[in-house]
Amino acid sequence: MTIPSVFKDESKLDINYIPPNLPHREKEQRLLMEFFSFILRCPERMAQRVILTGDVGTGKTALAQNFGSKISSDAIKRRINFRYVHVNCRELRGSLQPILHRAVVAFRSNYPARGYSAEEILTALLQVLDEENAFMIFTLDEFDSLIEKEGSDAVYKLTRIQEMRPNQPQRLSFIFIIRNLDPIQKLDESARSTLQRSIINLERYGKTQLMDILNDRVSMAFDIGAVSEDVVELVAELAFTETGNARFGIELLWRAGKYADAEEASSVKAENVRFAVSNILPGLRRSELVSLGLHEQLFLLAVARYFKENNEVYVALSELEGVYSVICEEFDENPKTHTQLWNYTQYFSSMGILKIQVSSVETRGRTTRISLPSTSAKELERQLTDYLDLMGRTE
Ligand SMILES: Nc1ncnc2c1ncn2[C@@H]1O[C@H](COP(=O)(O)OP(=O)(O)OP(=O)(O)O)[C@@H](O)[C@H]1O
Ligand SMILES: [Mg+2]
Repeated sequence: MTIPSVFKDESKLDINYIPPNLPHREKEQRLLMEFFSFILRCPERMAQRVILTGDVGTGKTALAQNFGSKISSDAIKRRINFRYVHVNCRELRGSLQPILHRAVVAFRSNYPARGYSAEEILTALLQVLDEENAFMIFTLDEFDSLIEKEGSDAVYKLTRIQEMRPNQPQRLSFIFIIRNLDPIQKLDESARSTLQRSIINLERYGKTQLMDILNDRVSMAFDIGAVSEDVVELVAELAFTETGNARFGIELLWRAGKYADAEEASSVKAENVRFAVSNILPGLRRSELVSLGLHEQLFLLAVARYFKENNEVYVALSELEGVYSVICEEFDENPKTHTQLWNYTQYFSSMGILKIQVSSVETRGRTTRISLPSTSAKELERQLTDYLDLMGRTE
């Protein structure tokens, strides 16, 4: 006998699932199509660079991938040799070499992963595109991670490669995905100027927009009648207060469904949703963890270890720095500077994971104390270790 479930197809709630339609992103989809329409008409004439920005969970990745498959199928109909390649820079720790390798293997599946520099791979990529008379949109998702790791030089190289080949067909276009433009502002003038041409900004979703998105997903993932309109509204409300984050709403729906299944109920109740919310680590979800930089993760691991091992409420940054450098050794990484760690602390404080307290009572001057107010150190350590292990294995 099969176990009863409120789900008919749970995979439609997976964080990596890309739905065929993206409600409330029609305008942006059309804009992308306009920016790249030349690929379908006269591809060799030009190359395009588009920046896609927007807060967490506003649909940047989904929009780009959705667009990629649409333009790919249009190109096939017109017999244009075209590839859409989407790479998450953060997953490759921001290194240009493996990122470029992903583009080359779209054509040369046995191109060696090691032994060539980033420049050599870039040259090889253009050569392959020439040989195949092919065109590519190369999407660099979580582009900030590449900027952080490789700096202005890499960006300059990427964007200028076409201009190094005057009078030759243009073959390589880019979509850069980044939550906000700050990291781009920090680039050298020359790198920056090649980037900031066309920017599409995805606004945060409103509550009714989130309801439409969630309803769409409910009909794909749940049995008919398993999720009432009221429950959808509650989830949308919660996702709306979480900065209009569609991913949070979808994750919440999935968890609530799991709790309903555990109770062998035939529908998802509001209480399942409330329970699901209260069980998600405040300020930090798995999906958020994934989007942190490696050193942000290592620093947070230091925080978790410190509080797990010491029965304290507060810690000084210098103390954390010691734990962090031991962890860096384990991971064979060079530790970041004190200033950088202070930036991380402020970032995590703005996310609500850490709390910073500056006290000036002591005569010796001001001291800064850091606490982990509402997250279990043990649970945080477990999640981070699991994740870092996984990344280590897939490298
Ligand atoms: N308009 C939409 N319609 C349907 N699903 C959507 C829509 N927008 C976002 N989603 C879904 O919400 C989740 C988050 O979207 P996505 O991953 O594209 O966000 P993002 O902007 O890339 O976030 P991040 O900055 O964290 O990478 C995905 O599961 C995506 O499929
Ligand atoms: Mg994304």
